[in-house]
Amino acid sequence: RPIRLTDYKAPAYRVSATDLTFRLDPTATRVTARLRFERIGDGPLVLLGERLKLITIKLDGADLAPDAYEITAETLTIHDVPAQFVLETEVEINPQDNKTLEGLYMSSGRYCTQCEAEGFRKITYFPDRPDVLSKYTVRVEAPKAGFPHLLSNGNLIEQGDAEADRHYAVWEDPFNKPSYLFALVAGELDVYEDTLTTMSGRTVDLKIYVDTGMSARAAYAMDALKRSMTWDEQAYGREYDLDLFMIVAVRDFNFGAMENKGLNIFNASLLLADPTTATDADYERIESVVAHEYFHNWSGNRVTCRDWFQLCLKEGLTVYRDQGFSADERGHAVQRIKDVKALRARQFPEDAGPLAHPVRPSSYLKIDNFYTATIYEKGAEIVGMLKTVVGPKVYRAALDHYFTTHDGTAATLEDFLKSFEAVTGDDFSQWLNWYTQAGTPRLKVTPSYDAVAKTLTLNLAQSTAPTPSQPTKAPVPIPVRLGILSEDGIPQSFGFEGHSQTEITYVLSEASTAITLTDVADAPVLSALRHFSAPVILEIEEPQSHAYARFRGDMDPFNRWETAQRLARDLILSGGDPAPYADALKATLLDGALEPAFKALIMALPTEQGLAQDMTPVDPAAIHTHRKAVKAALSATLYPTLRDLYDAIQPAVTFSPDAQSAGGRALRNALLDLMMAGYGTADETRQSELSALASAHYARADNMTDMIAALSALMSVHGEPYEAALDGFYARFKHEPLVIDKWFALQAACPHPETLSRIDRLSRHADFDPKVPNRWRALVQNLASNNPSVFHGVFAPDSYGYGFVVDQILTVDEFNPMTAARLVESLSGYKRYASPYREAMKAALETIMAAPKLSKNVAELTAKALDQK
Ligand code: ARG
Ligand code: ZN
Repeated sequence: RPIRLTDYKAPAYRVSATDLTFRLDPTATRVTARLRFERIGDGPLVLLGERLKLITIKLDGADLAPDAYEITAETLTIHDVPAQFVLETEVEINPQDNKTLEGLYMSSGRYCTQCEAEGFRKITYFPDRPDVLSKYTVRVEAPKAGFPHLLSNGNLIEQGDAEADRHYAVWEDPFNKPSYLFALVAGELDVYEDTLTTMSGRTVDLKIYVDTGMSARAAYAMDALKRSMTWDEQAYGREYDLDLFMIVAVRDFNFGAMENKGLNIFNASLLLADPTTATDADYERIESVVAHEYFHNWSGNRVTCRDWFQLCLKEGLTVYRDQGFSADERGHAVQRIKDVKALRARQFPEDAGPLAHPVRPSSYLKIDNFYTATIYEKGAEIVGMLKTVVGPKVYRAALDHYFTTHDGTAATLEDFLKSFEAVTGDDFSQWLNWYTQAGTPRLKVTPSYDAVAKTLTLNLAQSTAPTPSQPTKAPVPIPVRLGILSEDGIPQSFGFEGHSQTEITYVLSEASTAITLTDVADAPVLSALRHFSAPVILEIEEPQSHAYARFRGDMDPFNRWETAQRLARDLILSGGDPAPYADALKATLLDGALEPAFKALIMALPTEQGLAQDMTPVDPAAIHTHRKAVKAALSATLYPTLRDLYDAIQPAVTFSPDAQSAGGRALRNALLDLMMAGYGTADETRQSELSALASAHYARADNMTDMIAALSALMSVHGEPYEAALDGFYARFKHEPLVIDKWFALQAACPHPETLSRIDRLSRHADFDPKVPNRWRALVQNLASNNPSVFHGVFAPDSYGYGFVVDQILTVDEFNPMTAARLVESLSGYKRYASPYREAMKAALETIMAAPKLSKNVAELTAKALDQK
């Protein structure tokens, strides 16, 4: 039943040309497909198709007799076909009723498509697999009224009137592409236009299509698009290849965005922005997703994947490319910290639980379940390690080799690694272990200093715990970037392999080894795994004074932040005196050389979910209480400093979304957040001061970033001021769906005893609609993923949020399995939890499993979570 990598067979037929005609109708769209086939292997012709009503079928112009073909719920098989032939089918589909948001569906009265990974088969019968590449010509026909824009991939080659007040457009895509990159959009849209001159001097028309009246909100995405296009030319030598590049924003979308050739389709939440409706985090995400989808034009579209097991060939590489772009635009250290935070928050738990899977999985039931942080983020880390090991010049040569060699083809991860072998002459086969093994490796570093010989010997050992169906693991190559400092934080040089160094990158490829640094001055403080040079868990025994030395002065900002996080974690989980931590934090905040964005990051304590990864068994109540207490203590100790720094930052008169301005806002809001953490334990005078501060922050906020920060600050006060602000916010933004999403999200993420009943109420609010994924995720995902204290019911016995989440998963699974399945992960870590959470989470999973009708998506993940597969 599951699809396995080892069962891969090359396709038996090529499709040299694909001509599609769409006669659009909300409930009865007719799709005609003329496919020119050529046999290149053996076996019958098997096309994939789901929920299609076949109207006609012709082979080389002649109707096929009913006994000449066979139809099942998922396939169309024709037994005897010539070596070359044209197959013409006409099918009927119902876009209006399609709430899976996959295939052709309607969103706000418009037609749009989502085909990756296996949605094209809901549009027409086709060999819907990424290694069948074809040239597409697409004719779209619809009524003129309501559907002035008719869009598809490539270039517009013809348009005109059709009968009965209808019109048509014909699009031709000159590049071969797999079916998952097909796209069609039709409807009423406003367009924001610009042009870009490419490195070879061609002019490309850029068009972003959005809801009518919203085109001004596409300006930032357009700016990000132009910067991305130029960056890809400079950093990777990749030029855009069509004369037109279009993006369309839609409200109803299962995930972030999609890289269809020449016609990207975006979730509106990742495209539309202006200061009154979007936060700095939104701007940042828009910039990175616009870049990500654009970069796919080469890493994904020009070079695509042979099969879906190779998904990370395009996704890992493209994430790595978009992270590089964001780092260049917004600062390397801050970007790295954010990327590592995201990796740890989303990918490490995957690796540590029953849903652990390799970056290249070996089997699946539904590939949609594998659009995971492991494939995206861990996949990106592997590319980053390769670059670290070969250096930037060789990396660029390897990527040039990869793009040139595989242009126009469907490639594999082996092909990717071979490009590194081709340009270096070295053997990269051990790197495949990173792709085929699940689990986060542990790297244990044991330093021993010889004061007489002035040598520092480092024992380096790696191990990876067993994961489902992978009991033993082979070593992986781990690049360990390291340097040393003195106890007062001054960088020290040292000898390694006969040279004097300030920093080295040693690649550990065995299970363990020892390396020796020479000419090491007294009492060295080791700074290992700088810039997070590998996605591993670092274990190191050292005196606390060493950690504080790095907190105060590591020249690697990543490790400075990392050390602060570890110290905070130890304070929260193991107790101790917060005074030294408060001192070091104060020194950091007062350090004029550090960027505001960095200070904002270092002020944020590890999240409750992050702390849960370092506690066995996990006790969410203890984590919540201790973290809150440490934060309150730091708040009380540092209050005068925080208040001075806060007062010294003047909000900008005119809003600009650039990184530096955003960094200033981030710092001011982080200062407010830490001050507010002292509310619960403060005396009455301080409480009214804090309450006034939060209210004033809200009243003066002239942008969404500050408004949301103020609303979170008011959460600590709760009661009247908070409720009044929430009501005012709703009244002001009730016609802005993207902002109302935030209103739902904020309330769902509030760590407060009343939240569960509030969420229940909100799920019956007139504006709540589980058929709109953005709205549904705002409420349900925020409870499950961003509100551990309420999700795990730490405020009152038996008040878990699990039941609510299960009901929601089952409701949505009836019409949108892809989106429903995403939430199963939130319960999958139950074995790591203490009683009674563990039993209650497991019971919740069992309730899902026992439901009378489950999609393959939800069934696959739930069964795995319960070890039933
Ligand atoms: N390729 C898209 C992107 O990374 C995501 C497609 C997600 N598809 C899915 N079935 N989950 O930009
Ligand atoms: Zn992608």
